[in-house]
Amino acid sequence: MSFRIAVLISGEGSNLQALLDDFQDDAIEIVGVVSSRAEARGLERAEQAGVETAVFSLAEEPDRERRDEALAGWLGERRVELVVLAGFMELLTPAFIRRFSGRIVNVHPALLPSFPGLGAIEQAVEHGVKVAGVTIHFVDEGVDRGPIVLQEAFELPYHRDIAQVRQRFHEVEHRLLPRAVRLIAAGRVSLDPDNPRLVRVEEDG
Ligand code: GRF
Repeated sequence: MSFRIAVLISGEGSNLQALLDDFQDDAIEIVGVVSSRAEARGLERAEQAGVETAVFSLAEEPDRERRDEALAGWLGERRVELVVLAGFMELLTPAFIRRFSGRIVNVHPALLPSFPGLGAIEQAVEHGVKVAGVTIHFVDEGVDRGPIVLQEAFELPYHRDIAQVRQRFHEVEHRLLPRAVRLIAAGRVSLDPDNPRLVRVEEDG
């Protein structure tokens, strides 16, 4: 039996593509891709891979509670075990997060708790940091605040070309996100019962 995940996106979907490429003929199945925007390029990527898609946008349903309830129902019907936020640019309601508690992960282009929220890459460049990174974390009701599963740091030399900097972040994201999902699917990720902020990850072995 495969481990059933859904991927939530809002735009380009390059992280979605990394997951689609990584989980071909695998123990992990992407059973659905949901976008918050009808024009997201990632929807085409999912369709090309033969994955079911849906759009749950605030343009169509401006009541966020109702939108997220419908989204939760859609995921529940498909028996989704893990919800992966891969460039999903909206906040989910507390009710949604409670329903999928401990079963939502997000990829964020910074070494949290530095630079949470929108524009993390721009903030890091603007600040002139010399070490940057990517974080995969569980999602709780705070913004980019949930328990950290994996982080990878890299040096960020002086650079004016934001497109090149962005590319560097993406390379790391595209490696780290599939790795985190694999570890979770294999049951190798658990919260410390004495301090649920601390995530125990059993790497190979
Ligand atoms: C990624 O940098 C991700 O970390 C951030 O949004 C971006 C989405 O890129 N949350 P893509 O849609 O996966 O190409």
